[in-house]
Amino acid sequence: MKFGYFDDEAKEYVITTPKTPLPWINYLGSQDFFGLFSNTAGGYDFYKDAKLLRLTRYRYNNCPLDNGGRYYYIKDGDTIWNPGWQPTQTPLDSYSCRHGLGYSVITGSKNGVEAKLEAFVPVGDSCEINRITLTNDSDVTKTLDLFSMVEFCLWNAEDDSTNFQRNFSTGEVEVIGSTIYHKTEYRERRNHYAVYSVNKPIEGFDTSRDAFVGVYNGFANPEAVLEGKSRNSVAHGWALVGSHHLKVTLTPGACEDFVFVLGYCENPVDQKFEAPGIINKKPADELLAKYKTSAQVDAALDDLHNYWNKLLSTYRVDTEDERLNRLVNVWNQYQCMVTFNMSRSASYYESGMGRGMGFRDSCQDLLGFVHLIPERARERIIDIANTQFEDGSTYHQYQPLTKKGNAAIGGGFNDDPLWLIACVSAYIRETGDFSILDEKCAFDSDFSKAVPLMEHLDRSFCYTTKNRGPHKLPLIGRADWNDCLNLNCFSAEPGESFQITGPSEGPVAESVFIAGMYVKYGKEYSDLLRATGNTARADEVDMLVADMTAAIEDAGWDGEWFVRAYDANSNPVGSHVCEEGQIYIEPQGMCVMAGVGVDNGKAQKALDSVKERLDTKYGIVLLQPAYTKYHLELGEISSYPPGYKENAGIFCHNNPWIACAEAVMGHGDRAFEVFKKTCPVYLEEISEIHRTEPYVYCQMVAGCDAPSHGEGKNSWLTGTAAWTFTCISQYLLGIQPTLQGLQLNPCIPHDMKGYKLDRTYRGTTYHITFDNAAGVEKGVKSVTVDGAPIEGNILPLTDKKEVEVVVTMG
Ligand code: BGC
Ligand code: NOJ
Repeated sequence: MKFGYFDDEAKEYVITTPKTPLPWINYLGSQDFFGLFSNTAGGYDFYKDAKLLRLTRYRYNNCPLDNGGRYYYIKDGDTIWNPGWQPTQTPLDSYSCRHGLGYSVITGSKNGVEAKLEAFVPVGDSCEINRITLTNDSDVTKTLDLFSMVEFCLWNAEDDSTNFQRNFSTGEVEVIGSTIYHKTEYRERRNHYAVYSVNKPIEGFDTSRDAFVGVYNGFANPEAVLEGKSRNSVAHGWALVGSHHLKVTLTPGACEDFVFVLGYCENPVDQKFEAPGIINKKPADELLAKYKTSAQVDAALDDLHNYWNKLLSTYRVDTEDERLNRLVNVWNQYQCMVTFNMSRSASYYESGMGRGMGFRDSCQDLLGFVHLIPERARERIIDIANTQFEDGSTYHQYQPLTKKGNAAIGGGFNDDPLWLIACVSAYIRETGDFSILDEKCAFDSDFSKAVPLMEHLDRSFCYTTKNRGPHKLPLIGRADWNDCLNLNCFSAEPGESFQITGPSEGPVAESVFIAGMYVKYGKEYSDLLRATGNTARADEVDMLVADMTAAIEDAGWDGEWFVRAYDANSNPVGSHVCEEGQIYIEPQGMCVMAGVGVDNGKAQKALDSVKERLDTKYGIVLLQPAYTKYHLELGEISSYPPGYKENAGIFCHNNPWIACAEAVMGHGDRAFEVFKKTCPVYLEEISEIHRTEPYVYCQMVAGCDAPSHGEGKNSWLTGTAAWTFTCISQYLLGIQPTLQGLQLNPCIPHDMKGYKLDRTYRGTTYHITFDNAAGVEKGVKSVTVDGAPIEGNILPLTDKKEVEVVVTMG
């Protein structure tokens, strides 16, 4: 069953009922200021840090589920309704929500009045704009009351939802004309406030929730709206809201719009006040002046559209499959931007309070983002490298505001260091900017110890080289990519964190997955060394990589597939000798991508085993058989019921590893089959089963052992976005950035007759036509550039702005 449709021309998903299986959300904002925006206008805004600088309040896990947002109430006689149905839930005569790139438009109508809510964050400004347009489609004059409402968060979202003894006494506001200023804690240590304003004169306002809503009412039936009259309340403590009341008279056919702006403003410490206790409103005045008129809003919306159209023009494919096109050209790249911006902090499943920037997460997010805004990728790489420790190990997370490592979690996730090589390599392959390797980066944010980024890469590589176990495989530490495989944890206490219990430097437990990474990214590191003239070190790295390959093929090979790990007692994990959890997906994908066993049949066997033992109709599960008992020696993984999360769920993140691995083996038919199974745009028709948004990936789909097989969970913030884009754009459609230039190496279904692709790369736009009249799955027979044949399949770099390329497969 579908709950909407894709409007490809507009690059929008159009939701046609407010009652989606779960809230289907969008993200507003591109750099510092962000809003989460659901199909019923739920969600919240924050500036830079979803925990510490949250503008509006949102209650997670609420009942009803998505309650709290930017709400506009229309009172038309005795009928009170919202354009997005929530929170009054008054049945609408018509409803649609269009989620587009950085904006959403909700349109509802009731009793001859249409209300359109357009919401977006303008490029370059720290505010959310809500333009409400009311149209009288009836044949009588309508006199309407329009009320706005947001609930202010007292900045620190965690404290705001726990520390009531203090917070009920700290709230402060100012109100001038149509503008409400939220200034809690501004008197003391904050130099920022929020502003919520409308561009027209108001009848009244409210800033106290108790006054506006009533202590025992809710957002569905605020007393002020029921009565059609604001209380003009000025809040002192308790809970703060911002609400405007406007009266609108519309003759038949008439329409009027109202521009609401919710913004974040900051003042220099010595210019905080314009009079004792009165905040300096200059930044708010300047911000509001930019969005006073509807024409200004139109211009800002145009800027936003242009911003996205330009970004998406970097990679654009035209195949016969419109679903593939919409995924690649719009939604997958869009999700890559969102994961780059948010890491794993704020979604409808990540509360924005817990996790900062993940080290491995951010490194992987870059793989899908680097082609969009390389300059921002560069900055991010340096931020990440600055948090590395001298011995090459890393913090697992860092804080977005301070950019310092998160000491509460610490380090010891032994895959983390190698991801730094992965993203630096991706950045240079995209841009050719080797100068990044000379950038001086700190250790643990101590800039007195800064060394060039290239040295950081070496520390990453050496850390893994030096920390190996009895089978010469890398030590796993607290965990590797699989956060829940905690082989040194042994937790028997409810509530203990699996991630930080036990010694981080477990002396024996080993990971075959990290070994695969070491081979893959060791080779990329060696390429960088050679390209910068350090042949001696490159030769050493190659030898170490060969040693690791041998270790994998020896102790890391189980006979039919790659072993997953060795536990703290040196027993294998993910082996046929295990009772449960005999085969895991991760080492099969990573080792084959790294090229291990490709020449001797092991890679093929491993992928056959994946197909035979892990594949389901909704994707490949993480392991089999699922753990039915709690295994103390394995950690969090077996704490999940069978079929969920890391315990045999379908982890969308590592399904593309298998599709990539199939492409390495030249199997285009199978690679696409794997790719499509977890791909949301192909699941639109089963949205009642899948439940999460059909335009973005979720982290996990319930596996075949779960009662709800096929049900998606935890949408938006997942490394899946970057890896599926890497998979489809590079491994399958075959546009592979290399140090030498763009390599064309497609792997597609044999019956895909060809496609066209535009790719802007290092200043040149290549218009590429792929011809597969031969009906092969892989193989490039010839390439012509502007009509002339070239040797091999790497496009020569050129100063030309536009180049025509024809690739003949065969
Ligand atoms: C989840 C993992 C996640 C980890 C992060 C675990 O509970 O299952 O997917 O990476 O928490 O802390
Ligand atoms: C989600 C985490 O963000 C990611 O870092 C991890 O690799 C996966 N879960 C698998 O555990």
